[in-house]
Amino acid sequence: MRSCAPSGICPPACTGLTLLLLLRAMNGEIYIWPSLLAGDFGRLEESALKAQKAGADALHLDIMDGHFVPNLSMGPDVVKMARRCLNIPLSVHLMLSRPDQFAEVFIKAGATTLTIHVESLCDILSTLRHIRALGATPGVALNPETPFEAVLPFLGEVDEVLCMTVHPGFGGQKFMPEVLPKITAIRRALRQQPGRDRGGDAIPGITVDGGIDLSTVMRVAAAGANIMVAGNALFKSKTMAQDIRQMREKARAVFGKDATE
Ligand code: DX5
Ligand code: ZN
Repeated sequence: MRSCAPSGICPPACTGLTLLLLLRAMNGEIYIWPSLLAGDFGRLEESALKAQKAGADALHLDIMDGHFVPNLSMGPDVVKMARRCLNIPLSVHLMLSRPDQFAEVFIKAGATTLTIHVESLCDILSTLRHIRALGATPGVALNPETPFEAVLPFLGEVDEVLCMTVHPGFGGQKFMPEVLPKITAIRRALRQQPGRDRGGDAIPGITVDGGIDLSTVMRVAAAGANIMVAGNALFKSKTMAQDIRQMREKARAVFGKDATE
Protein backbone atom coordinates (compact mmCIF):
# COMPACT_ATOMS: atom_id res chain seq x y z
CA MET A 1 0.00 0.00 0.00
CA ARG A 2 1.44 3.34 -0.98
CA SER A 3 1.09 6.53 0.98
CA CYS A 4 2.06 10.12 0.38
CA ALA A 5 5.71 10.73 -0.43
CA PRO A 6 7.79 12.22 2.36
CA SER A 7 8.19 15.34 0.24
CA GLY A 8 6.26 17.49 2.67
CA ILE A 9 4.08 18.90 -0.08
CA CYS A 10 1.07 16.76 0.80
CA PRO A 11 -1.36 18.21 3.36
CA PRO A 12 -1.22 16.26 6.64
CA ALA A 13 -4.73 14.81 6.18
CA CYS A 14 -3.79 13.37 2.78
CA THR A 15 -1.96 10.19 3.84
CA GLY A 16 -4.90 8.87 5.83
CA LEU A 17 -7.42 9.91 3.21
CA THR A 18 -5.49 8.26 0.39
CA LEU A 19 -5.11 5.06 2.39
CA LEU A 20 -8.80 5.02 3.21
CA LEU A 21 -9.68 5.57 -0.45
CA LEU A 22 -7.41 2.76 -1.59
CA LEU A 23 -8.45 0.34 1.14
CA ARG A 24 -12.09 0.80 0.28
CA ALA A 25 -11.33 0.42 -3.43
CA MET A 26 -9.77 -2.96 -2.66
CA ASN A 27 -13.14 -4.08 -1.31
CA GLY A 28 -14.85 -3.39 -4.64
CA GLU A 29 -16.64 -0.39 -3.15
CA ILE A 30 -18.75 2.05 -5.17
CA TYR A 31 -17.79 5.73 -4.89
CA ILE A 32 -19.85 8.80 -5.66
CA TRP A 33 -17.83 11.91 -6.52
CA PRO A 34 -19.91 15.09 -7.11
CA SER A 35 -18.33 17.42 -9.67
CA LEU A 36 -17.93 21.00 -8.43
CA LEU A 37 -18.24 22.24 -12.01
CA ALA A 38 -22.01 22.08 -11.47
CA GLY A 39 -21.78 23.95 -8.15
CA ASP A 40 -22.68 27.60 -7.59
CA PHE A 41 -19.65 29.62 -8.79
CA GLY A 42 -20.70 32.52 -6.59
CA ARG A 43 -20.57 30.23 -3.55
CA LEU A 44 -18.03 27.54 -4.32
CA GLU A 45 -17.08 26.89 -0.70
CA GLU A 46 -20.72 26.41 0.21
CA SER A 47 -21.18 24.03 -2.73
CA ALA A 48 -18.13 22.00 -1.76
CA LEU A 49 -19.37 21.71 1.83
CA LYS A 50 -22.83 20.75 0.62
CA ALA A 51 -21.37 17.78 -1.31
CA GLN A 52 -19.35 16.61 1.70
CA LYS A 53 -22.35 16.93 4.02
CA ALA A 54 -24.49 14.96 1.57
CA GLY A 55 -22.12 11.98 1.83
CA ALA A 56 -19.77 12.41 -1.15
CA ASP A 57 -16.81 10.02 -1.09
CA ALA A 58 -14.62 12.70 -2.71
CA LEU A 59 -15.07 16.03 -4.47
CA HIS A 60 -14.26 16.07 -8.20
CA LEU A 61 -12.68 19.25 -9.59
CA ASP A 62 -12.46 19.83 -13.35
CA ILE A 63 -9.46 21.84 -14.57
CA MET A 64 -9.60 23.12 -18.17
CA ASP A 65 -7.06 25.10 -20.20
CA GLY A 66 -9.01 26.30 -23.24
CA HIS A 67 -6.69 24.21 -25.48
CA PHE A 68 -7.29 20.59 -24.64
CA VAL A 69 -10.97 21.44 -24.33
CA PRO A 70 -12.84 24.50 -25.63
CA ASN A 71 -13.53 25.90 -22.16
CA LEU A 72 -11.86 27.36 -19.08
CA SER A 73 -12.90 26.44 -15.57
CA MET A 74 -10.92 26.68 -12.34
CA GLY A 75 -7.33 26.71 -11.13
CA PRO A 76 -5.22 25.65 -8.13
CA ASP A 77 -6.75 28.24 -5.80
CA VAL A 78 -10.10 26.48 -5.99
CA VAL A 79 -8.38 23.20 -5.09
CA LYS A 80 -6.71 25.01 -2.14
CA MET A 81 -10.09 26.31 -0.99
CA ALA A 82 -11.59 22.80 -1.16
CA ARG A 83 -8.63 21.31 0.73
CA ARG A 84 -8.99 23.95 3.43
CA CYS A 85 -12.69 23.41 4.04
CA LEU A 86 -13.19 19.66 3.39
CA ASN A 87 -11.87 16.46 4.94
CA ILE A 88 -12.78 14.12 2.06
CA PRO A 89 -10.34 13.32 -0.80
CA LEU A 90 -10.09 15.68 -3.79
CA SER A 91 -10.19 14.16 -7.28
CA VAL A 92 -8.55 16.63 -9.65
CA HIS A 93 -9.24 15.99 -13.35
CA LEU A 94 -6.74 17.81 -15.58
CA MET A 95 -8.18 18.54 -19.02
CA LEU A 96 -4.94 20.20 -20.10
CA SER A 97 -2.71 19.83 -23.16
CA ARG A 98 0.36 19.85 -20.87
CA PRO A 99 -0.64 18.32 -17.52
CA ASP A 100 3.04 17.61 -16.82
CA GLN A 101 3.63 21.35 -16.38
CA PHE A 102 0.88 21.68 -13.74
CA ALA A 103 0.97 18.40 -11.77
CA GLU A 104 3.08 19.77 -8.95
CA VAL A 105 1.07 22.94 -8.46
CA PHE A 106 -2.19 20.98 -8.13
CA ILE A 107 -0.65 18.44 -5.75
CA LYS A 108 0.72 21.26 -3.60
CA ALA A 109 -2.77 22.78 -3.67
CA GLY A 110 -4.15 19.58 -2.12
CA ALA A 111 -5.15 17.11 -4.87
CA THR A 112 -5.53 13.57 -3.53
CA THR A 113 -5.88 11.95 -6.93
CA LEU A 114 -4.59 13.61 -10.10
CA THR A 115 -5.98 12.36 -13.41
CA ILE A 116 -4.39 13.23 -16.74
CA HIS A 117 -5.68 12.50 -20.24
CA VAL A 118 -3.97 9.86 -22.37
CA GLU A 119 -4.54 12.19 -25.36
CA SER A 120 -2.57 15.06 -23.80
CA LEU A 121 0.71 16.26 -25.28
CA CYS A 122 3.26 15.00 -22.77
CA ASP A 123 5.12 11.86 -21.80
CA ILE A 124 2.23 10.05 -20.08
CA LEU A 125 4.28 7.41 -18.30
CA SER A 126 6.78 9.79 -16.75
CA THR A 127 4.01 12.23 -15.76
CA LEU A 128 2.08 9.44 -13.99
CA ARG A 129 5.25 8.39 -12.15
CA HIS A 130 5.99 12.00 -11.25
CA ILE A 131 2.48 12.38 -9.79
CA ARG A 132 3.01 9.27 -7.64
CA ALA A 133 6.45 10.46 -6.54
CA LEU A 134 4.95 13.78 -5.47
CA GLY A 135 2.52 11.98 -3.18
CA ALA A 136 -0.75 11.96 -5.12
CA THR A 137 -2.64 9.03 -6.62
CA PRO A 138 -2.27 8.97 -10.43
CA GLY A 139 -5.14 8.34 -12.82
CA VAL A 140 -5.45 8.23 -16.59
CA ALA A 141 -8.52 9.46 -18.50
CA LEU A 142 -9.67 8.78 -22.03
CA ASN A 143 -12.08 10.59 -24.32
CA PRO A 144 -15.17 8.84 -25.72
CA GLU A 145 -13.59 8.23 -29.13
CA THR A 146 -10.25 6.95 -27.79
CA PRO A 147 -9.98 3.14 -27.93
CA PHE A 148 -9.39 1.25 -24.69
CA GLU A 149 -6.05 -0.05 -25.97
CA ALA A 150 -4.62 3.44 -25.47
CA VAL A 151 -4.59 3.00 -21.67
CA LEU A 152 -3.33 -0.61 -21.58
CA PRO A 153 0.35 0.40 -21.24
CA PHE A 154 -0.50 2.42 -18.12
CA LEU A 155 -2.74 0.03 -16.17
CA GLY A 156 0.13 -1.02 -13.92
CA GLU A 157 0.95 2.61 -13.08
CA VAL A 158 -2.43 4.07 -12.12
CA ASP A 159 -5.05 3.66 -9.42
CA GLU A 160 -7.85 5.08 -11.57
CA VAL A 161 -8.94 4.83 -15.21
CA LEU A 162 -11.47 7.55 -16.04
CA CYS A 163 -13.74 6.95 -19.04
CA MET A 164 -15.34 10.13 -20.35
CA THR A 165 -18.98 9.39 -21.10
CA VAL A 166 -19.42 12.81 -22.76
CA HIS A 167 -16.99 14.97 -24.74
CA PRO A 168 -14.89 16.75 -22.10
CA GLY A 169 -15.27 20.48 -21.51
CA PHE A 170 -18.80 21.03 -20.28
CA GLY A 171 -21.20 19.71 -17.69
CA GLY A 172 -24.83 18.91 -18.38
CA GLN A 173 -24.32 16.92 -21.60
CA LYS A 174 -26.11 13.75 -22.61
CA PHE A 175 -24.58 10.42 -21.60
CA MET A 176 -22.95 8.52 -24.51
CA PRO A 177 -23.97 4.83 -24.31
CA GLU A 178 -21.44 3.91 -27.01
CA VAL A 179 -18.74 4.12 -24.29
CA LEU A 180 -20.23 1.16 -22.36
CA PRO A 181 -18.36 -1.61 -24.24
CA LYS A 182 -15.10 0.22 -23.57
CA ILE A 183 -15.76 0.22 -19.82
CA THR A 184 -16.35 -3.52 -19.97
CA ALA A 185 -13.19 -4.04 -22.03
CA ILE A 186 -11.13 -2.16 -19.45
CA ARG A 187 -12.69 -4.11 -16.55
CA ARG A 188 -11.83 -7.35 -18.32
CA ALA A 189 -8.29 -6.17 -19.05
CA LEU A 190 -7.87 -5.34 -15.36
CA ARG A 191 -9.02 -8.79 -14.36
CA GLN A 192 -6.21 -10.24 -16.44
CA GLN A 193 -3.65 -8.20 -14.53
CA PRO A 194 -2.50 -10.34 -11.63
CA GLY A 195 -2.55 -8.42 -8.39
CA ARG A 196 -4.28 -5.35 -9.80
CA ASP A 197 -7.93 -6.38 -10.03
CA ARG A 198 -8.98 -9.21 -7.77
CA GLY A 199 -12.20 -10.64 -9.20
CA GLY A 200 -14.32 -7.50 -9.10
CA ASP A 201 -12.26 -5.64 -6.53
CA ALA A 202 -11.01 -2.51 -8.06
CA ILE A 203 -7.49 -1.21 -8.25
CA PRO A 204 -7.41 0.71 -10.43
CA GLY A 205 -10.96 1.91 -10.03
CA ILE A 206 -12.90 2.63 -13.21
CA THR A 207 -14.41 6.10 -13.11
CA VAL A 208 -17.13 7.39 -15.38
CA ASP A 209 -17.58 11.10 -15.97
CA GLY A 210 -20.36 12.81 -17.91
CA GLY A 211 -24.13 12.46 -17.91
CA ILE A 212 -24.20 10.17 -14.86
CA ASP A 213 -27.54 10.21 -13.04
CA LEU A 214 -29.86 7.80 -11.25
CA SER A 215 -30.69 5.97 -14.45
CA THR A 216 -27.35 5.92 -16.35
CA VAL A 217 -25.50 4.85 -13.18
CA MET A 218 -26.94 1.35 -13.49
CA ARG A 219 -25.67 0.95 -17.04
CA VAL A 220 -22.12 2.07 -16.26
CA ALA A 221 -21.96 0.03 -13.04
CA ALA A 222 -23.17 -3.09 -14.85
CA ALA A 223 -20.46 -2.47 -17.45
CA GLY A 224 -17.82 -2.45 -14.68
CA ALA A 225 -17.43 1.16 -13.47
CA ASN A 226 -17.19 1.67 -9.69
CA ILE A 227 -16.50 5.41 -9.35
CA MET A 228 -19.30 7.74 -10.43
CA VAL A 229 -18.60 11.41 -11.12
CA ALA A 230 -21.86 13.35 -11.27
CA GLY A 231 -22.25 17.10 -11.65
CA ASN A 232 -25.67 18.36 -12.64
CA ALA A 233 -27.57 15.30 -11.46
CA LEU A 234 -26.39 15.92 -7.88
CA PHE A 235 -25.79 19.67 -7.55
CA LYS A 236 -29.06 20.63 -9.23
CA SER A 237 -31.01 18.20 -7.09
CA LYS A 238 -32.89 19.31 -3.97
CA THR A 239 -32.21 15.88 -2.42
CA MET A 240 -28.48 15.47 -2.91
CA ALA A 241 -27.86 13.23 0.10
CA GLN A 242 -30.70 10.90 -0.82
CA ASP A 243 -29.55 10.81 -4.46
CA ILE A 244 -25.97 9.96 -3.48
CA ARG A 245 -27.25 7.06 -1.35
CA GLN A 246 -29.53 5.84 -4.12
CA MET A 247 -26.83 6.13 -6.75
CA ARG A 248 -24.51 4.02 -4.59
CA GLU A 249 -27.18 1.39 -3.90
CA LYS A 250 -28.24 1.12 -7.54
CA ALA A 251 -24.62 0.76 -8.65
CA ARG A 252 -23.83 -1.85 -5.98
CA ALA A 253 -26.80 -3.96 -7.05
CA VAL A 254 -25.54 -4.42 -10.61
CA PHE A 255 -21.78 -3.80 -10.43
CA GLY A 256 -19.85 -5.81 -13.03
CA LYS A 257 -22.92 -7.76 -14.20
CA ASP A 258 -22.16 -7.21 -17.90
CA ALA A 259 -18.41 -7.64 -17.54
CA THR A 260 -18.36 -11.32 -16.69
CA GLU A 261 -16.71 -13.50 -19.36
C1 DX5 B 1 -16.78 17.45 -18.15
C2 DX5 B 1 -16.31 17.16 -16.76
C3 DX5 B 1 -17.30 16.54 -15.86
C4 DX5 B 1 -18.58 17.30 -15.64
C5 DX5 B 1 -19.69 16.29 -15.55
O1 DX5 B 1 -15.71 17.74 -18.97
O2 DX5 B 1 -15.17 16.32 -16.76
O3 DX5 B 1 -16.72 16.20 -14.59
O4 DX5 B 1 -18.59 18.09 -14.50
O5 DX5 B 1 -20.88 16.97 -15.46
P1 DX5 B 1 -22.31 16.26 -15.61
O6 DX5 B 1 -22.37 15.19 -14.57
O7 DX5 B 1 -23.26 17.36 -15.40
O8 DX5 B 1 -22.34 15.66 -16.99
ZN1 ZN C 1 -14.35 15.53 -14.76
